[in-house]
Amino acid sequence: MLRLLLVLFLATPVAASAQEMRGHGGPVRALAISADGRLALSGSFDTSAILWDIERGLALAVLRGHESSVNAAAALPDGRFATAGEDGRILLWRMGRQEPEARLEGHAGPVAALAVSPDGGVLASASWDGTARLTPLSGTTPPAVVRQRGPLNAVAFAADGQSLITGGHDGAVRLFGPDGGQRRVVDTGVPVNGIVVAADGEIIAGGADGRLRFIAGDFTVAREVAASGTPVVAVALSPDGRRIAAAGIGGTVALVDRASGRIERTLVGPGLPVWSLAFRPGTDELVTGGGDRLVRRWRASTGEHLGAVVMERPSEALARLADHPGAEVFRACSACHTLDPDGGNRAGPTLHGVIGRRIGSAAGYDYSPALRRMDIVWSRDTIAKLFEIGPNAYTPGTKMPEQRVTDPDDLRALVDYIARATGAE
Ligand code: HEC
Repeated sequence: MLRLLLVLFLATPVAASAQEMRGHGGPVRALAISADGRLALSGSFDTSAILWDIERGLALAVLRGHESSVNAAAALPDGRFATAGEDGRILLWRMGRQEPEARLEGHAGPVAALAVSPDGGVLASASWDGTARLTPLSGTTPPAVVRQRGPLNAVAFAADGQSLITGGHDGAVRLFGPDGGQRRVVDTGVPVNGIVVAADGEIIAGGADGRLRFIAGDFTVAREVAASGTPVVAVALSPDGRRIAAAGIGGTVALVDRASGRIERTLVGPGLPVWSLAFRPGTDELVTGGGDRLVRRWRASTGEHLGAVVMERPSEALARLADHPGAEVFRACSACHTLDPDGGNRAGPTLHGVIGRRIGSAAGYDYSPALRRMDIVWSRDTIAKLFEIGPNAYTPGTKMPEQRVTDPDDLRALVDYIARATGAE
């Protein structure tokens, strides 16, 4: 049995066989899934966002642009993604580009939540600066700004697709018209941490007391459901509107039937506590991001934690090394790096031929400017050093998420595996 995996991945044997996406150097704080259910964007306390091919369990790109924690993510109907951070920034990303396509400024404090209008025309953001902004994604109309007492944690579009619903520290859930005028308010009595809205107009607010409040069209609380013994930190609604997932900061995820308000089940398994949740359109899957830094898939109807990662079949050379102790350590790298001659670049450059290669020189890979300027030649020693002290310390400015291999035996095994698998010896 492996003595120690990377510090990065506090994976148990159960977790190691799970349908999981590895990559982040800190808890996964934000998740969004494309409308076709194929791609996920995760945002982390480690300041990076990672774009995933869900089915293949592969990281397609590591996106850097925030200066601190990525708190929120949203998928736009046109295929782009938005991220928002503690740095107050909102960035728009287009698949295939390493740099953000647009940067929306204006918040004077951390942005806690994002929502996209159903027609994709407006991005709503809620901030601890006490405002929510409705920013048109095309044209020159300035954003509409609404204010609430104290920090805002949650935002969603109303069923009309234009009005805005906000929730925040003051416990109020408010409805604003598209012009920014307040139309309705209800006081839930506790800080509101998450809001979802069903197609029939029902609003579900997750509160700091662990309860979900079902708010009817007339803005009265029609029902309360105790979803967690600890504050609810994330709420998601299934695409068919029938199921709500609510994560409590203490480590539970409750799946609630919306019609009856009954808790169908509570997720049990690895990866808890969960910080972020999203249902996967076109499937019955719930995707979660949590404190163990992984993105995981669950079957929402049964609560089952889904099986082994769908990894591509290894080449013959790698299959021969399957029992090498370094193969297990390398699992943490394989979402982003290939070793085969024809494996190509993923979110990270190919490691084929890495031994003896100058840093930042794999053909066709778009390195960070920092890495291109460095003067390192990769060898067993320098690769070991990279993961002994961590990429941030050894290659400052790199876009590889921070991770270390703390066990000296694991580190030796990892480097030996890379050298053998890439034909260096
Ligand atoms: C989430 C994605 C991700 C994971 C996981 C990851 N890397 Fe990386 N790695 C990258 C990226 C992105 C770069 C390029 C960094 C840059 O351009 O600043 C990189 C660069 C490197 C380089 C330098 C390559 C060169 O051509 O100069 C090495 C070596 C490396 N990684 C090894 C590893 C190993 C070994 C692991 C597992 C312990 C690992 N990486 C895990 C994304 C990742």
